[in-house]
Amino acid sequence: MREKLKFIIGRIKAGRLQEMKKQTIWIYQYAKRYWLIMILYTLLGMVSTVISLVISMVSRDLVDIITGHETGEVIQTFCMMIGLNVGTTFLSQISDYASSYLSMKVDAEIKTDIFSKILVTDWESLTNYHTGDLLTRWSSDASNISSGVLNFVPNAIIYLFRFISAFSMVIYYDASFAIFAFLGMPVSLLLSKTLLRRMVRNNERSAAMGAKMSGFNQETFSNIQTIKAFDLIHIYIERLKQLQKEYISMKLDFQKMSMGTSILLSTVALLVSYASYGWGLYRVWSGAISYGTMTMFLSLSGTLTGTLHNLTSLVPSVISLTTSAGRLMDIIEMPREDYSHNDEVAAFWNQNKENGISLQIENLEYSYKTGTKVFQDASLEVHPHEVIALVGPSGEGKTTMIRLILSLMQSQGGSAFLFGGSTTKQASGSNTVALTPSTRKLFSYVPQGNTMFSGTIAENMRNVKPDATDEEIIEALQLACAWDFVEKLPMGIHSEIKERGGGFSEGQAQRLSIARALLRRSPILLLDEATSALDVATERRVLKSIMRDEYPRTCIVTTHRPSVLNICKRVYAIQNKSCVVLSEKEIDDMMRNF
Ligand SMILES: Nc1ncnc2c1ncn2[C@@H]1O[C@H](COP(=O)(O)OP(=O)(O)O)[C@@H](O)[C@H]1O
Ligand SMILES: [Mg+2]
Repeated sequence: MREKLKFIIGRIKAGRLQEMKKQTIWIYQYAKRYWLIMILYTLLGMVSTVISLVISMVSRDLVDIITGHETGEVIQTFCMMIGLNVGTTFLSQISDYASSYLSMKVDAEIKTDIFSKILVTDWESLTNYHTGDLLTRWSSDASNISSGVLNFVPNAIIYLFRFISAFSMVIYYDASFAIFAFLGMPVSLLLSKTLLRRMVRNNERSAAMGAKMSGFNQETFSNIQTIKAFDLIHIYIERLKQLQKEYISMKLDFQKMSMGTSILLSTVALLVSYASYGWGLYRVWSGAISYGTMTMFLSLSGTLTGTLHNLTSLVPSVISLTTSAGRLMDIIEMPREDYSHNDEVAAFWNQNKENGISLQIENLEYSYKTGTKVFQDASLEVHPHEVIALVGPSGEGKTTMIRLILSLMQSQGGSAFLFGGSTTKQASGSNTVALTPSTRKLFSYVPQGNTMFSGTIAENMRNVKPDATDEEIIEALQLACAWDFVEKLPMGIHSEIKERGGGFSEGQAQRLSIARALLRRSPILLLDEATSALDVATERRVLKSIMRDEYPRTCIVTTHRPSVLNICKRVYAIQNKSCVVLSEKEIDDMMRNF
């Protein structure tokens, strides 16, 4: 039993070490580009170590000259000491500069890299994380790594060098003092072992707490209206207080732990320094060394204890770094979207610019990872200059179908592809591409809810087409029936939109979103309940206007109300996990009964 336990613990330890190795390699892939700066930093650290040792020698001479133990120039020696001290000040500034340069560069690099990787991560996997959690990992964990990256190799080398050189000096002048360098060692070692375990746990707790707080803050600030409307102000203030209480009690726990270790370490350092002081006095008294040598030993023993402490505290720092690296790697290691068909799609689009693009879906099957099966045997098709509608009650699968068309999620069966122009069925052929993340550039998508960014109307429009002229913008606004109200604004297309479409009614913001999608001139337009906040007359006007446009656009709208169905080419009802084409009579019945 015991053997087995030992074996298991051994395995866990090996696993953690294996992981740490992987995480270290990962961190260094960012830092290694700056090897020159790291070498410079290491050299500076070593040079300043040498200078501080020389200073302790010069100060020995100075004391010896003053006490008459030695003869020499007092003024000269004094000046030399001051010069050396000024020199170390400059050196430490340069090495601070190098270290902050390095950490800022690494910080920016990790953040850019993770940012771009998050953006191409499979959307469904990403939805498993709260955005607050993602944000904390992206900002805090990356900063944690960049600020501690020098602790791996450069600082370890500097501290080792400092320890060895100070120790050699002690041995050289009076080997009996060497024992004081190791007096504190057992305590340091013992402490580091317990610290290590606690450190890992603290890191995990602190990261989880950070994610929770940032999630709470972000969600609260973006939902102030709902909080007010439900009169939840007090509840939310209480929740914040509760979170702060948890946070403070966690931090105090950490603080207590670090207080304990600090007291222990300072006591040990004090004892060691008193012991070496006593020993020094004894050696001076017995005539073995001079006063100057004693002061030198005192300063060296301080260096040795301090450096030993620095060396042992590298371990928790490395633990914290690798924990952060692990949390970032979790995100990076999620499945990536496949953009390998970009060239193929670009060629396909070039070939079909004139006539537009058809979409065909056959026997599609899809279940969410949660197990909810949404489609079993769904088929539909749509061609240029056509608008088709997907109808069905809420929760039936309209948005899911749009997400599948956009390849935000991968179907588990069936086929989905685009083909050039013609309105005839073309199951397989040369002028065909399968739906992948690469085909997304052929779509314009107006999702449910508000998706305008803060900035002027024109800026929002140019987000999707940076070189659009004012005339093009106005034309798109006209097509989306948004020009009616934009025209009346004092600043016209240069009017400000606030965060999430603020300052405009829901229906106006929807028309602006549609105008933005039309401006992009993608061959396929997807409107997901994008006209839901419009009155029936305006809704019909918007769709009719889009249909009248000469651009060979292929258009899919989803709706839960039948008011526009009779102007659509085909209407698919999502029923029993599949898509059924409704007859004219069924459409008429639906519209009458609405
Ligand atoms: N991200 C998701 N994860 C798991 N299930 C989902 C997710 N989004 C939607 N669903 C489920 O899929 C079904 C269809 O949803 P949806 O396509 O959004 O319906 P709607 O027709 O209202 O647009 C619903 O039963 C919903 O619970
Ligand atoms: Mg929906």
